[in-house]
Amino acid sequence: MALYSEKVMDHFRHPRNVGCIENADGIGEVGNAKCGDIMKMYLKIDNDVVTDVKFETFGCGSAIASSSMATELIKGKPLNEVLKLTNKAVTEALDGLPAHKLHCSVLAEEAIQAAVKDYCEKNNREFNF
Ligand code: FES
Repeated sequence: MALYSEKVMDHFRHPRNVGCIENADGIGEVGNAKCGDIMKMYLKIDNDVVTDVKFETFGCGSAIASSSMATELIKGKPLNEVLKLTNKAVTEALDGLPAHKLHCSVLAEEAIQAAVKDYCEKNNREFNF
């Protein structure tokens, strides 16, 4: 069996929603100290719904594929659902990642949480949806 699924390869080669959003409502940047990879998520939020999302990832192929899939999974979703997105859900949507690459999908979960937190802080809102 190939190390990476077709979906991982597809999202790595053709990542969706790459870039930054000017005037984003929430920005989350996280990194993994061990591998040094960095992921940044930009959210546009309207009425507590993610209307647009983009990412910049300086990292490995699994991190790029995870960011890409995560953005697809949260686009158009209300924040209460967005905050439930786990790295497990991202990994499953990618048809799996090798065990030593699971931490790459954790970055996606953390970056989204950080972006929603940023949105809450900027708007004096509780981090609770
Ligand atoms: Fe660190 Fe993939 S190797 S995010």
